[in-house]
Amino acid sequence: MDTKCLTDEYILHTYGRFPVTLVKGKGSIAFDENNKRYIDLTSGIGVNAFGFCDETFINAVTQQAKKIQHTSNLFYTEPAAYLSKLLSEKSGMSKVFFSNSGAEANECAIKAARRFSLQKNGKGFHNIITLKNSFHGRTITTLAATGQESFHEDFFPFTDGFLYADTHNTESIKTLVKNNKCAAIMIEIIQGEGGVMPLSDELIETIKELSTSFDIPLIIDEVQTGNGRTGKYFSYMHYNLNPDIVTTAKGLGGGLPIGATLFSKRFEHALISGTHGSTFGGNPIVCAGAATIAERIDDAMLSDITAKGEYISSAIKNFSKVKSVSGKGLMLGIEIEGEAKSSVSRCIENGVLVLTAKNKIRLLPAFCISYKEIDEALSILKACI
Ligand SMILES: Cc1ncc(COP(=O)(O)O)c(C=O)c1O
Repeated sequence: MDTKCLTDEYILHTYGRFPVTLVKGKGSIAFDENNKRYIDLTSGIGVNAFGFCDETFINAVTQQAKKIQHTSNLFYTEPAAYLSKLLSEKSGMSKVFFSNSGAEANECAIKAARRFSLQKNGKGFHNIITLKNSFHGRTITTLAATGQESFHEDFFPFTDGFLYADTHNTESIKTLVKNNKCAAIMIEIIQGEGGVMPLSDELIETIKELSTSFDIPLIIDEVQTGNGRTGKYFSYMHYNLNPDIVTTAKGLGGGLPIGATLFSKRFEHALISGTHGSTFGGNPIVCAGAATIAERIDDAMLSDITAKGEYISSAIKNFSKVKSVSGKGLMLGIEIEGEAKSSVSRCIENGVLVLTAKNKIRLLPAFCISYKEIDEALSILKACI
């Protein structure tokens, strides 16, 4: 049986896969089993920050695999220690907890916010306000945090205590904060799975004011937007925000699974010994790879990401059938006349890998994509829309 048949036979059918088996890649170019070439504008949904088979990442990961691959968190390991320092320097946050995915990073943030609130306010102040159209993960609790009914339908009952504020109306979150005992507000700055929808400046300002005046901790989910993706190390850095907890994953791992929950000084004791843990979290191989990603996201890299994003978006805005382009840096959503899915299939057939987000075409290219590759991909994208 070939790969597609084996997959269909033995792997649970939870994904709508494209009929392509990718077997190798370099930078932003991937090849399928028939050696057909694709320009990748997806980076594995924002994961392969420096593309396929990036030498720096491979060297760090293979060298670490030859030294020690895993120890448990009962012992100290150098890669996790080094990565924690790097993340703290990049963000100004005080401490990190390492896990294995975005959902786990968010679970950790939710636990920390609830424990912090219990100690500060006593019982009952456990509600977490999230936004409608958000996406925070697939576990029962992070699905409960996700403000989209379509994700909820089949899985009741959920973890209690999540309230959803409207993204288009600042009164909604004001009312929820005033009428409920809250442990935290949790937001994405750009709702990725929700259709690459940036929050309005007005909503961000309102959330900042509410968080300060009601002393409600702010959790920012940077799982998709973090690690340079939007042209700042974290997307909240485009605004004057000081979050209490930041979660991240995807691009930080560069292709290996990681989740990280960052805590401000005030929150560094929100979780203490015995209150949280992970078998694989902080794995030395994963952290050695992740350090090569975080190290390279400096000001020059961030400017490059911004410039490439602006180049792509200004080209696409002039395509016929394109209604609007949303997002920042190399996280872009294209609203087109008609439905996105058939354009995406045409792009893939014609050698360009793109994604959807709601009814938009979503682009999350690797940071190392060249302008030549961008131009080639754009001309195919233009023809396929
Ligand atoms: C904003 C956001 N939060 C959380 C998640 C869940 O991450 P994971 O699939 O690594 O659990 C995602 C995944 O797309 C995401 O975009």
